[in-house]
Amino acid sequence: MSEMQTIQWFPGHMTKTKRQIQSSLKLVDAVAEIIDARIPISSRNPELAKLIQNKPRVILLNKCDMANQTATKMWIDYFKKQGITAIAVDCKSGRGLNQFPSAVNAVMSKKIAKLKEKGMVNPTIRIMIVGIPNVGKSSFINKMVKKNRAKVEDRPGVTRGNQWYTIAKGLEMLDTPGVLWPKFDDKLVGEHLAFTGAVKDQILDIELLSVRLLDFIKKLKPADFIARFKLEETDLDNIDSYELLQIIGKKRGMLISGGEIDTERAAIMLLDEFRSAKLGRITVEMPYGE
Ligand code: G4P
Repeated sequence: MSEMQTIQWFPGHMTKTKRQIQSSLKLVDAVAEIIDARIPISSRNPELAKLIQNKPRVILLNKCDMANQTATKMWIDYFKKQGITAIAVDCKSGRGLNQFPSAVNAVMSKKIAKLKEKGMVNPTIRIMIVGIPNVGKSSFINKMVKKNRAKVEDRPGVTRGNQWYTIAKGLEMLDTPGVLWPKFDDKLVGEHLAFTGAVKDQILDIELLSVRLLDFIKKLKPADFIARFKLEETDLDNIDSYELLQIIGKKRGMLISGGEIDTERAAIMLLDEFRSAKLGRITVEMPYGE
């Protein structure tokens, strides 16, 4: 799956992106990093910590509507133990977004206290959104802006072209997110990103990818998956994943001439159903490799 390295990011592109983010970072007090709650490891950018240095950060575990709830709680706990504030959100419905302003206030509390000490009555905190493609950055921005329709007027000192939105009292957000690349030099990371549809399908071997997904699902045995394809839980223990794909295709009547099973169609369907959480709310990556 090394082809995926060439799709979106080239060294020149990465340098340009980094520069853009660095210049936006100068304008903000804190960063909101959006990651995918189903793959909290693979959906993070490997260089973000270095880029933002010691700026306070809030992690948004997005798409939590499609992730396992217990796993999401474990991730929040995992980040908390590292001193990082993380919240679970669903930027499609807007669920969880009301926690955002208080999460930012919590990570900014020391700075806010200092500003107040200096005599500032209502200090304004500015944030920017960062994340890899497709993680939900635009959805987040749209939802926050719609909820709090208020554009900040041009002010002296604020770089032209940058637009700010007031999204809560004393909290302004930069309208353009920083788009970061994932850690694509790791095969497993590439696979997990592909499971969720974060990288384009055209460059991947769909059947191979669906077999890898079944390798994982087979062990997890999600109830929705078992019920959907009317499988026996015990059947999953010793079955080869390609054979399982064939069974799934057959159950759906996906046949080609001669009665052979159309495994490519079955693979596309399986990935599609996984990506829309029809196989259950599945978290692929657990903290501490659990
Ligand atoms: P980006 O700016 O980071 O690139 O991501 P964007 O907001 O465009 O979101 C990418 C896709 O993920 C969109 O789906 C969006 O609707 C979906 N999405 C974002 N947040 C959530 C979430 O919390 N839950 C779910 N279930 N989906 C989410 P799309 O198929 O590209 O478009 P559409 O379905 O909105 O038409």
